[in-house]
Amino acid sequence: MIVCVCKSVSDRKIRASIADGVDSFDELQFELGVASCCGKCAESVRDVMLQSGVCASRCGVEHYAQAVPLTFYERKAA
Ligand code: FES
Repeated sequence: MIVCVCKSVSDRKIRASIADGVDSFDELQFELGVASCCGKCAESVRDVMLQSGVCASRCGVEHYAQAVPLTFYERKAA
């Protein structure tokens, strides 16, 4: 599912980048361009990072004992 509409970045792509060693929000922003346009996806990107096991000190969010539901934005038809 698309997480960043502006840059057409999916949660799968974010997870693949994390699996390849990207381990900070800034790095994801640099590598994929997420949250670099309107910025509305920043929280969703952090949610994906959290659910992918990236440490809170690197993704900028606190750990939760329970899974955090993801918030996605849907692309509107032109
Ligand atoms: S939705 Fe990601 S920068 Fe706009």
